[in-house]
This record gives sequence, structure tokens and C-alpha cells, in this order.
Amino acid sequence: MTIELAVIGGTGVYALGELADVETHQPVTPYGAPSGPVRVGTYAGRRVAFLARHGEGHSLPPHRINYRANLAALKALGATRVLALNTVGGITERFGPRVLACPEQLIDYTWGRISTLCEEPGSEVLHVDFGDPYTPSLRRQVVAAAAQASVALVDGGCYGATQGPRLETRAEIARMRRDGCDLVGMTGMPEAGLARELGLDYACLAIVANWAAGAGPEVDEVITLQDVLDNVSAAMAGVPELLRRVLAG
Ligand code: HPA
Repeated sequence: MTIELAVIGGTGVYALGELADVETHQPVTPYGAPSGPVRVGTYAGRRVAFLARHGEGHSLPPHRINYRANLAALKALGATRVLALNTVGGITERFGPRVLACPEQLIDYTWGRISTLCEEPGSEVLHVDFGDPYTPSLRRQVVAAAAQASVALVDGGCYGATQGPRLETRAEIARMRRDGCDLVGMTGMPEAGLARELGLDYACLAIVANWAAGAGPEVDEVITLQDVLDNVSAAMAGVPELLRRVLAG
């Protein structure tokens, strides 16, 4: 049976509360095992899959996530559309803590991650178009769903994907701002590129957890995990209704 939407949860999002009649799958893909079990169930009357990107106990740092296995597992279960929840830092004015955003561009600063399906000898060489890294039709649906659900969401922005797991220096964030980044996170790539190689529709729902280093009004602000988690759970308040509208659309 097809899956209407696959949701990948990021830091602070380890389950979809409303998922009912849940079946648990432990798929193994040609790329290895995903971060954890894939939960498939009913959400607002539609079949939805959920996978916690860092594992259900948040055991995987961003550079150790098997992004290929995660996406291949969702595809093998019948997903064609993926909504990625990504916890991020905000760099520019409109993207303060607790904001939800649906970025439309990205810049990849990660290194040393397996970032393509063309890794193995003999695999087909792919040069997928990536001018619009997020699928425009899925982005439009997310933006429209937020408006219908009266959930505040910033439509647009550029996501800068950093290597982590440490947070960035102020100079790194200043450079990213000059590059045109509005948001910074550690998991946006290679996930988006791999989704394109796999032919999956893919959009990002970014949840701003903190001001990135040096970006906020308080000069000496130290970013704590507790602030990150508190802001994510506050920003997530409107997400269930947003998802219901995406599924209805
Ligand atoms: N930088 C990178 N990734 C993040 C941040 C940040 O400030 N906050 C949450 N994820």
C-alpha cells in the first residue's frame, strides 16, 4: 500500500503523537540499516510513515546518520513524498527562535559524508538537477497548509548545512550570512540531494531552536541543549494541524 507522506523527525521530534494503528518496520536496504524503526500508521485518515533521523533515543550525531538507508527504506515502504523536520539555528532577522520555516534554497558546507547513490563502483552516474533543492509542489502544499491551519510559517529562506556536531563559530555564521544563508542546521544535506537522486519529493519544515552564534540580540548568548529542546517543543505546537492539512490537500 502506498504511503501518503513520510515524515523524518529531527532533534526533539522522536515520534508522531497522533499516528494510530502503527506497524513497525525494520527494513534493511542496499545501503544498510536506517537510523531506527520506521513506524507506519494512520494520521488524519492517511497512511503516514515516521522515522526519527537521529534514532529514537537520539543516539546518532549528524555525520553518522545513514541518510541513504533512511531514504531508501522510506522509498521501499512505498513513500514518494518526504517532509523533513529539521531543527535549526536562525541567522537572519525573520528566523528567530520558535519560528517555523519552509526554506527554498540550501548551501552545503558538510564534508566527508556519503552524499550520493553513485558511490559504489558500477553504480549509474547521476547528475540530477538540483537548482530547486526542495520540490516546489510539496513546498507549496506545506505553505498553503500552514495558512489554512493559521500556523505562522516563513515561506522561503536559505538553509546552510554544516558538518557539526559542534555548533558554529561567530565567524562561521557571519560568513554564512554573507553567503546568503538564513538558517543553519547539520542534517539538511546530504538528505535533500539523496532524495532527489531517489526520485522522492522532498521539502523541509525547519524549526528554529536558537539564534545561531552571534546572530541574536544578546552578544554573549550561550546555546544550551535545554533551550533548543524547549523552543522546539513550543514551535511544534502547530505542526500536527499543519500535517493534517498537508494530508488533506
Ligand atoms: N547550528 C547548527 N545546527 C543547529 C543549530 C545551530 O545553531 N541549532 C539547532 N541545530
